[in-house]
Amino acid sequence: MVVTSRNIPVARPSFDADEERELLDALRSGWVTQGPRVAEFEKRFAAVVEAEHAVALSSCTTALFLALHSLGIGPGDEVIVPSLTFIASVNPIVHVGAVPVLVDVDPESFNIAPQRVAEAITPRTRAVMPVHQLGHPADLEAIQKIANDAAIAVVEDSACAVGARYRGRPIGASGNLNCWSFHPRKVLVTGEGGMITTNDADVATRLRRLRHQGMSISDVERDSADEILTEEYPEVGFNFRMSDLHAALGLAQLPKLDRLVARRRELAARYDAAFAEIDAIARPEPPPSAEPNQQSYIARLRHADRASRDAFLNAMKRRRVATRRGLMAVHRERPYRIAPDNDRVRAAGPLHHSELADAQTVILPLYPELSEADQDYVIEQIPAALEEAGALEPAR
Ligand SMILES: Cc1ncc(COP(=O)(O)O)c(C=O)c1O
Repeated sequence: MVVTSRNIPVARPSFDADEERELLDALRSGWVTQGPRVAEFEKRFAAVVEAEHAVALSSCTTALFLALHSLGIGPGDEVIVPSLTFIASVNPIVHVGAVPVLVDVDPESFNIAPQRVAEAITPRTRAVMPVHQLGHPADLEAIQKIANDAAIAVVEDSACAVGARYRGRPIGASGNLNCWSFHPRKVLVTGEGGMITTNDADVATRLRRLRHQGMSISDVERDSADEILTEEYPEVGFNFRMSDLHAALGLAQLPKLDRLVARRRELAARYDAAFAEIDAIARPEPPPSAEPNQQSYIARLRHADRASRDAFLNAMKRRRVATRRGLMAVHRERPYRIAPDNDRVRAAGPLHHSELADAQTVILPLYPELSEADQDYVIEQIPAALEEAGALEPAR
């Protein structure tokens, strides 16, 4: 048995002297709330994802909320979303007052199934929210066509997807409202943080106002003006600002994106090669149009159920390897249970693939600094952990 020198985490941000320097510079500048570094981060981020405008926010959750709010979506409206996603995709739909309509996923890619979207549309549908699950691009072309035919908006949950590509272009290049996260489990990390990208200048202007209490001018504009500028508040806004401290980290992270993604892909390919030999483990198969960024490495334990999957996670923990349950089906959580007395949510069609993925998937350690020796250790522990959990062979 290879002996690992330390506990292996499931994820870890890639910070070095660049982040330390940028953060210290920001601190020393005295400007620690939304300021010039946020503006610079927005400009550079937009260029990287091939969008025209980027509006930095406090998280992807606030980004999704603001995107829906800016489209005027509210009470009486429906938004189609996969059930198989982190609950943060769905909560903002409820927060704007609309009803999430949960649909099933494709069993291979774990992404929203376009056919299920088409079937879920009603006269109340205002938007569809494809989630680029764990950085695996959803089938945007099919979804866009369905949305165009039905005259509904597409709001992309791109929380995990920076650096992923679809049909040769980065996620973010579609022109739709795209919402991003910089949480530590993501590929680019600012601690907490989010972004909306769009190609519409008017929408970007309004989003900037809404994130800052509805204020008509930014603090930077006011500060750099020759004369006193008095702001106005033409509509009700929020405080969803990103701070310059967070943006400083983003500025240090952005130039590393290609390298971080390349290293993630190398490590993912090593897992793929190892798991080709283990019948009990299946991987999502990205279609040829999709180039995932490997934000997380997800595997499906073919022979597991919820109990043996959890037993596997514990068996790995005993071996000092951190893993996580994989994707969650939100309708298994209390607020989103499908029941006659729960009018907060609706399911369109069966959610079998979501339920199976919820029970059988796991996330394995993957981060750019994961050493090959540590990854080999993880791989070597898996058959024994599967056996211990009763998930190595089909149940009799
Ligand atoms: C698919 C998805 N959507 C939304 C979010 C919310 O991101 P944040 O933590 O930045 O609010 C996450 C975060 O984990 C996510 O994975």
